[in-house]
Amino acid sequence: MITINANNQSRCINSQQYSLENLLHLCKLTDNIRNIASTSEGLKYLKTILSDKRAILYFKQASTRTFLSFENACHILGISCSEIRDTSTSSEVKGESELDAIKTFSQYVDLIIMRHPSSNFIYEISDNLPDDIRIINAGSGTNEHPTQALLDFYTIYKYGLENKKIAFVGDLLRGRTVRSLALLLNKVSGTKLYFIAPDKFQIKNDILEQLNIDYELTDDFEKVMSEVDVVYMVRLQNEYKNEGINENDIIDTNKYSINTNNINKLKDNAIILHPLPRRNEISVEIDKDKRAKYWEQCRNGMYIRVALIMTMFGVEII
Ligand code: CP
Repeated sequence: MITINANNQSRCINSQQYSLENLLHLCKLTDNIRNIASTSEGLKYLKTILSDKRAILYFKQASTRTFLSFENACHILGISCSEIRDTSTSSEVKGESELDAIKTFSQYVDLIIMRHPSSNFIYEISDNLPDDIRIINAGSGTNEHPTQALLDFYTIYKYGLENKKIAFVGDLLRGRTVRSLALLLNKVSGTKLYFIAPDKFQIKNDILEQLNIDYELTDDFEKVMSEVDVVYMVRLQNEYKNEGINENDIIDTNKYSINTNNINKLKDNAIILHPLPRRNEISVEIDKDKRAKYWEQCRNGMYIRVALIMTMFGVEII
């Protein structure tokens, strides 16, 4: 049975907007959707839920998972999708501003899902479009990736949220998924975060200043490996050139990776996450280890995006 949820949030812009109650509600709704989607009858039912809606995926940065999981989430709900990924085929090539391009989309669709290299453009869009246009931030520069954080949060929720020690490892300076997830985990009391990176790649203070939970900064991954319940690896984000890092600054993957030489330092029931794509921070042999959950995490992204879109349109299943 479908009902209208009076507490819907019609935009997904950043992590700060979600309360713990919102997050737990989304996790439970995602479980419910997965259950329904496990049968052919259930999938047919889900396809009717938003079949009167249209969406555009406007991606001005490369993507595999976020693009495809949103596109498939729309398909699951019966939403018709269009896309612009290559603006050499749009009227931006004739000098149209991005804002005008997006105002144009809003004449045709109900939902705009946008990935953009700027940290702030998502806020400009949100301020300039009518309230009935749903907007999702699918990645905003080095700043935020709130829907990745939602799927990461859901994956941790599946293995138990309470009193967890969670290590973020790698390029935390430019890793927007880490920034967004740290802000969500900040809502779970009893959590401890470890930010593990060489000094030059350490997470910025603007995130640390918002944390109310315990946290530690270190450059020594091996030292904390045996203490933590979740390890969240990220790659070098060297597509960004302007954060005080130059071409020669790299992360030594001998010190900041999981491989067959150090995997046994992890607890037996720890989980290994990665937003993907990976380079060599997790070796392929680790995929067979029972603690490797990053492919499951990737799949979770499609289902929690179904749940997110439903709540944004104020629709619940009970
Ligand atoms: N995790 C993530 O955002 O992956 P893509 O860049 O492939 O979308």
